[in-house]
Amino acid sequence: MSSTTTWPKIIQGGMGIGVSNWVLARAVSMKGQLGVVSGTAVDSLIARRLQDGDPEGHVRRAISHFPWTDMGKRILDKYFVEGGKPADKKYKLIPMATQKLKTATAEMLIVSNFVEVFLAKEGHDGVVGINYLEKIQLPTMPSILGAMMAGVNYVLMGAGIPTGIPGILDGLAKWQPVKLKLNVEENPEQLDFYQDFDPAEYGEMPEGGIGRPLFLGIISSEIVAKTMERRATGEVNGYIIENHTAGGHNAPPRRVRGADPDAPPAYTEKDIPNVGKVAAIGKPFYLAGGFGCPEKLQEAIDMGAQGIQVGTTFAYCDESGITREIKDEVLDRCANGTLNIVTAFKASPTGYPFKLIELDEENDVPSRRKRICDLGYLRHMYLKDDGNLGYRCPAEPVKDFVRKGGTEEGTNCKQCLCNGLMGTIGHGQVRDFGEEPAIVTTGEDFSVIKKLIEPGKLVYHASDVVDYFLTGNYKKAEQV
Ligand SMILES: Cc1cc2nc3c(=O)[nH]c(=O)nc-3n(C[C@H](O)[C@H](O)[C@H](O)COP(=O)(O)O)c2cc1C
Repeated sequence: MSSTTTWPKIIQGGMGIGVSNWVLARAVSMKGQLGVVSGTAVDSLIARRLQDGDPEGHVRRAISHFPWTDMGKRILDKYFVEGGKPADKKYKLIPMATQKLKTATAEMLIVSNFVEVFLAKEGHDGVVGINYLEKIQLPTMPSILGAMMAGVNYVLMGAGIPTGIPGILDGLAKWQPVKLKLNVEENPEQLDFYQDFDPAEYGEMPEGGIGRPLFLGIISSEIVAKTMERRATGEVNGYIIENHTAGGHNAPPRRVRGADPDAPPAYTEKDIPNVGKVAAIGKPFYLAGGFGCPEKLQEAIDMGAQGIQVGTTFAYCDESGITREIKDEVLDRCANGTLNIVTAFKASPTGYPFKLIELDEENDVPSRRKRICDLGYLRHMYLKDDGNLGYRCPAEPVKDFVRKGGTEEGTNCKQCLCNGLMGTIGHGQVRDFGEEPAIVTTGEDFSVIKKLIEPGKLVYHASDVVDYFLTGNYKKAEQV
């Protein structure tokens, strides 16, 4: 497959929740590069867009193209609010995914992933990808089906070692039942648990069939690439080698032999991926994490890569899902040299390091919010005494986590990324303590953004970023 593929030079990385939305991915795709929508929590996002009245009608237009009309109608009946819900009213929640998927959960996942990809691909011939995280397993199979029904061209996945996904893409393309092996904690006998998913239970294969998207694994080391090569259930079409300066989740630092076990975690030279060893596998690959500039693009190509994957520079362009208010604050700080980016080693319920931007000392999220777990994407599965699976999140209320067999220590410093990231894109839940405060993740590389902006001139576009990477010429940002 890869010999006939025209590989883009630039991948606009998937950025969840809703930062790389369809508007951004479409803009990049229309420039001839790979625009990637985030598939993370896109079911909650679509439910909230509908409850906000879907003001421009995009979600409803996409649903009108969804091949299974009754399913689309059920979603609209449940979530669409004409004119939008009152600002002080809570968003209605969607049911959380579990091992045995409820029909309503799977339907929402199928339709919402279809919608986001459909809109990103609408009205042009460019290619579009979708990004998922291996750490979030339960919504994955119906999500991929929905994205494939909309003709997604690439599936990109990291935050774990997604060996099961390539085979699932093969199976779904043939409309066959598929299954995903689940990662289950407190499972001393290493019993196997699977989630089953049969597309035929939901409807007939759309006319003309559905294509098998290319699969790109996002990896932090050659070891992960080799594991994928050995154990993947289907073809891995390429890799994105991402280093620890990237936004979102990062791979944990590797242990250095002889290092003080009590020392705080830190990245060292051992964490620099060995690009040559990944290149030696012989598959197309991309470099990510501080590679977003024309010189680095050339450097990547000189190392044998097809190109680069870029996140941060696209995250603050006008088309991304981050609210204008947060963009302005971050970009203003960038222009004034007061931006503070940290790798939070304990904040994410996944256990992976997470890059955070410190927005405002007063916006100390843990002290501003009460612990509530009602989105649940980052819940871990564990084996209960009765042999069934349980679900718990280290960021949920401490007593609930402990009741489910977790330790109090395990909840230390954990932040509810699900609700915080929804806040960053203007869909934060309404609580009795106010709206959910935003949590902003970002990469460390603002070098290109610094060239584009100056105080008061903070608006730039995805097309400006692509043009700059490809030509080296840049246009200054416009006034807010
Ligand atoms: C706001 C933001 C959110 C991100 N979310 C995800 C994500 O959900 N999944 C993922 O695989 N990578 C995520 N990333 C990583 C990007 O896709 C990309 O690989 C990375 O940012 C590249 O490094 P750069 O920011 O230096 O360009 C995110 C990055 C940013 C800036």
